[in-house]
Amino acid sequence: MLVLSGIMVMAVSGLIFIGCTKEGPQGPAGANGTNGKDANATCTLCHNFGDTVIVKIFQYDASKHASASTIVEAARSGCSGCHSHEGFLEKLQTGSSVTQAYNDAAPINCRTCHTIHSTYTPADWALRNVEPVHPYIDSTSSIDLTITIPGGTDGTSNLCGKCHQARLNSPWITNPKGTDSLAVTSTRWGPHHGPQFLMLAGKGAFEMGASAFGSSNHRTNATCRNCHMGPAQGEAVGGHTLKMTSTETGDNVAACKPCHSSIGTTFDVNGRQTEIEGLYQTLKVKLAQKKVLDTITGILKGPISASKPKKFTQIQLSVYWNWCMVDADRSMGVHNYVYTRDMLNAGIAYMNSLP
Ligand code: HEC
Ligand code: HEC
Ligand code: HEC
Ligand code: HEC
Ligand code: HEC
Ligand code: HEC
Repeated sequence: MLVLSGIMVMAVSGLIFIGCTKEGPQGPAGANGTNGKDANATCTLCHNFGDTVIVKIFQYDASKHASASTIVEAARSGCSGCHSHEGFLEKLQTGSSVTQAYNDAAPINCRTCHTIHSTYTPADWALRNVEPVHPYIDSTSSIDLTITIPGGTDGTSNLCGKCHQARLNSPWITNPKGTDSLAVTSTRWGPHHGPQFLMLAGKGAFEMGASAFGSSNHRTNATCRNCHMGPAQGEAVGGHTLKMTSTETGDNVAACKPCHSSIGTTFDVNGRQTEIEGLYQTLKVKLAQKKVLDTITGILKGPISASKPKKFTQIQLSVYWNWCMVDADRSMGVHNYVYTRDMLNAGIAYMNSLP
């Protein structure tokens, strides 16, 4: 942040200088204060070293986003749209999930989510994009998890969901109950790491059981922000850390309190996380027994490669996909208890029906 303030002083004095030179280039649009005052007036509404912004910067620095641990994936087309700032903006502009490779890439940062430096006023705190999500796995459909809040709406889930969703795979399941086989060419076949938006929505799992999967109602009551940006404790949990839990604080149940007033010290409301964990482990063992899942790697049981594909029935792959959704979701039922329970139970029932 010392670097930032240094650069800022230079940039601001640069603007003043440009403003005094008759033929110099124009400063950024909107920089000259709306009420005829000089440009610095609007800059300092944010760059005032006030506590609100500095706290958010420190919190965000503690987030996994800011760690940039997956920024190398920006150098791959198709990955950059979720793993870099540049790819994300490209995706928003083109509406396509196919994005370029970026070598000079920035991790997800303030201006990925906020419209920083477009009007150079505090209006730039607006969220960049809260439009409904066209999921990668079915781009012709649209999911809108905007909720109504006092005085307006909160579309945060749609923003986060543009990245926190499953990826399309090849081969693709076309008949979840099918006993015909698909030839899989990679052990990494599956929904990828971050399906949380789909879980909250109650979408994206394959229904292969006797009845349709139900869904809990968090999606109409809460957005990602309510829980992941709940009351903060320093830079450990809540606020812009996006973290739910830490070793120092334990589970940040303060985020749940407004709605679950009698919650204890953990997220295990009504023992639901314990219940889901049990079902998840049961299905894991059954998938391993049938040589679908490799419990050491946590992915499909190989050997599998492009030259040595392995055949699975569509229904087996559906059960596996759903298990992977729960595994990658990592809320153990909090995002959507009923949906998670139903998909695990349907998978267990199918595996039990096998000889
Ligand atoms: C809506 C609040 C807001 C306003 C208004 C604003 N900035 Fe910023 N500015 C930011 C944020 C947020 C960052 C990024 C901080 C970070 O990444 O830690 C930033 C970063 C910067 C940086 C560091 C380099 C960079 O681009 O990241 C400079 C220089 C800067 N701003 C100059 C200005 C100037 C000059 C103005 C007025 C013309 C201005 N800012 C108006 C919020 C604002
Ligand atoms: C639709 C958005 C999206 C796309 C496209 C995407 N990812 Fe990800 N990826 C994510 C999200 C979100 C996470 C973090 C999820 C979490 O931590 O729960 C993640 C996590 C990861 C991780 C970290 C896994 C871990 O265990 O920490 C790796 C590695 C990764 N992705 C690689 C890739 C590669 C390689 C590609 C392209 C072939 C790719 N991703 C494409 C959204 C995406
Ligand atoms: C992953 C997305 C994301 C990133 C990255 C992010 N924010 Fe936010 N920010 C949000 C959301 C969501 C809100 C709450 C929504 C709202 O109030 O409109 C918010 C709210 C804020 C607010 C309050 C805005 C207001 O209208 O009062 C400030 C200030 C802020 N963020 C600063 C920052 C700064 C500084 C950074 C970078 C260090 C940053 N944010 C990075 C998502 C993000
Ligand atoms: C531009 C795509 C993108 C957007 C938008 C985005 N995320 Fe992420 N998120 C990721 C990726 C990629 C990772 C993994 C980062 C890494 O490991 O480098 C991640 C990681 C996380 C993690 C940490 C997971 C862990 O392993 O501990 C949380 C929590 C999270 N995001 C929540 C959110 C929330 C809440 C929002 C919206 C306010 C949001 N994200 C918006 C792509 C995104
Ligand atoms: C009702 C509260 C709630 C909502 C809404 C919610 N989450 Fe979560 N999320 C949780 C809890 C609780 C966990 C698991 C924490 C634990 O047990 O360690 C979690 C786990 C995660 C994780 C795994 C990493 C971590 O922090 O444990 C990611 C990533 C994540 N959520 C992203 C999202 C995104 C993106 C959204 C919005 C689409 C969202 N969540 C909505 C409560 C919520
Ligand atoms: C904005 C309000 C709101 C917030 C915040 C919220 N919840 Fe909920 N939660 C609800 C509502 C409403 C239901 C009932 C949904 C239904 O029955 O479909 C629910 C249901 C649940 C369930 C399923 C309970 C059952 O027995 O069916 C669990 C588990 C849960 N919440 C955990 C959490 C946790 C953990 C947090 C904090 C990280 C949290 N919730 C935050 C409103 C909220």
